Amino acid sequence: MSNHLASVATPLDLDASQWLEEWAAGQPQAVLWWASGYLAARAQGAPPALSAVAAPAADAMLILTASQTGNSRRLGERLRERLVSVGHTVRLVSAADVTGKQLAAATSLWAVVSTQGEGDPPDEARGLWELLSGRKAPKLSQATFAVFGLGDSSYPKFCEAGKFLDERLATLGGTRLLARVDADVEYADEADAWLEAIVKAAPAPIAANASRQSPLRSVAPLAARQAERDTPREVPVLAAQSIVGKKAGRAVWHYELEGGADFAYEPGDSLGIWPVNPPTVVARVKAQLADAPAQVTRGKLERPLEDWLTEHLEITRVARPFLEAQAVRSDSSELKGLLDKTPEAAVRLQSFMLGVNAADVLERFPVLTGQAWSAADLLAVLRPLTPRLYSIASSRKTVGDEVHLTVAGVTDGAASTHLWRRGTDGGVVRAYIERNEHFRLPADPSRDVIMIGPGTGVAPFRAFVQERAEIGASGRHWLFFGARHFDSEFLYQLEWQQALKEGRLNRLDLAFSRDQSTKIYVQQRLRERAADLWQWLEGGASVYVCGDATHMAADVHAALRDVAQSAGRLDAAAADAWLSDLAANKRYLRDVY
Ligand SMILES: Cc1cc2nc3c(=O)[nH]c(=O)nc-3n(C[C@H](O)[C@H](O)[C@H](O)COP(=O)(O)OP(=O)(O)OC[C@H]3O[C@@H](n4cnc5c(N)ncnc54)[C@H](O)[C@@H]3O)c2cc1C
Ligand SMILES: Cc1cc2nc3c(=O)[nH]c(=O)nc-3n(C[C@H](O)[C@H](O)[C@H](O)COP(=O)(O)O)c2cc1C
Repeated sequence: MSNHLASVATPLDLDASQWLEEWAAGQPQAVLWWASGYLAARAQGAPPALSAVAAPAADAMLILTASQTGNSRRLGERLRERLVSVGHTVRLVSAADVTGKQLAAATSLWAVVSTQGEGDPPDEARGLWELLSGRKAPKLSQATFAVFGLGDSSYPKFCEAGKFLDERLATLGGTRLLARVDADVEYADEADAWLEAIVKAAPAPIAANASRQSPLRSVAPLAARQAERDTPREVPVLAAQSIVGKKAGRAVWHYELEGGADFAYEPGDSLGIWPVNPPTVVARVKAQLADAPAQVTRGKLERPLEDWLTEHLEITRVARPFLEAQAVRSDSSELKGLLDKTPEAAVRLQSFMLGVNAADVLERFPVLTGQAWSAADLLAVLRPLTPRLYSIASSRKTVGDEVHLTVAGVTDGAASTHLWRRGTDGGVVRAYIERNEHFRLPADPSRDVIMIGPGTGVAPFRAFVQERAEIGASGRHWLFFGARHFDSEFLYQLEWQQALKEGRLNRLDLAFSRDQSTKIYVQQRLRERAADLWQWLEGGASVYVCGDATHMAADVHAALRDVAQSAGRLDAAAADAWLSDLAANKRYLRDVY
């Protein structure tokens, strides 16, 4: 709370009040705590030499987050609020920004990290992982630490990134204060318990006494909060337009939503949408139940069965706990085989899960007689519904309060079909902005920008090109786009051609994989343009990659390495180091899913 001295009973004269107020306003929290300790000692008649008072331990307590879709970041923010509320001075830093020096200086290190890809760290932590694995890794002998790993037990490498970090922090000399947590999708209770365990285990705040003497100290209320994950806003869907031809392999829709004046976003951000499950899938799941109670209790909450299945639980995606329970009830050897703990079965399970929903599984592996599901039992093994993210395809400077999206159709997909339904009936979706500070345009508008975005990966680049035109950026823009067919799947074709004509886009390279007998992808175009790409990159260009994480991101990475080898004449190790440097300098940025 920023108290004005004038409103606090003060024994100081006006000059002294003003001086103190101005001085205090410019000080970081740690210095204020230190000063309060010093003044308290003086008041007790034992004026210490200034140097004898413990220095403020700036950076001593560090919360480190590594996040792809925001869960770890949000938990890190909650931990910061909790620690500050009990008097700690704590710095929250993302894995993309943390330095070896900050890690070495930390005396307490609380890390929240999710796992992505196939057991990989989030993109923003790639540089940190390299640092911690290399010869320049910081010594952490003065740090105590605790790691909270977020993951999904349906993946073969459950919480792998958390495990890696926990092991590395210990190997580098840190002292583990709490056992690592490997948290599954439903992690709220574990997160609450972890926050409290940290508050208890953390060393006492620097100014513990001062904190006890002023129990009314409060954190200033935040300015009116934006819509967030757990407090989304109802956003009208203004327009829905198919942007592929009839012969396209899949539907892709361009949506325009009415964000509103306070729905602030920047190019690079995503829109989070809370799905509503398709009524057909809800009905098929209900048809498999032995009972049909009006209200069902799950955990601490009671709700109508229809509500649970429509808006609160995942039924379009399946996860291990449900599959394991169905394997027992059906005694299906096929399902049991998929759930084997071998690496081969794990790979088969992954591809099985990509393409079935709960109704499919219930119908395909029928339960044995006497094993039918009660509503309460089934609900207990289904997971809470999670929002889906969509890269924002517009700049507010161009579209005002609107938010544009580019969304691929997924058969019976919860969010994609919900959006489509609301797009056609003009209804609303519950949405919020998911900020992505690690996928931003260069601060310097004269820098060149290379954008690699096949398929719906092109969405943020529509926003980038709009934004840079609006601010009159002098840097050049080069887009690599790919899809199956030129005729039917060239997303935003007219816009790109117009942008080329007007000089808002300087180069466009296309790869349509199925328009000829041999498949051509964007990575081939990158290799073909190696000399020019190298020139742009050596001139300071930033390179952005968006879209498919499963194959494209790795293939593009390999192609960029080849560019460094062929055009930059680097050997393999130097090319890897060059790419790592590019990423560390935030000039190689990815948003892949
Ligand atoms: C940071 C981020 C940005 C994203 N940006 C975009 C974007 O701009 N445009 C866009 O279209 N999507 C984007 N996505 C993906 C999007 O969030 C959803 O995952 C996707 O729309 C499917 O959600 P759904 O609810 O419709 O389907 P779900 O209900 O999640 O899935 C239904 C079924 O389809 C399967 N399935 C889901 N996705 C696929 C797929 N791609 N291929 C095959 N099977 C699938 C599931 O396994 C399940 O069996 C992004 C994801 C992230 C993390
Ligand atoms: C594309 C993708 C891949 C994932 N891979 C794994 C994995 O290999 N292991 C795992 O435990 N969790 C995996 N997860 C689950 C995430 O770790 C989990 O959703 C987590 O809550 C995300 O946290 P974040 O929002 O901080 O990134 C994956 C999620 C996505 C979207």
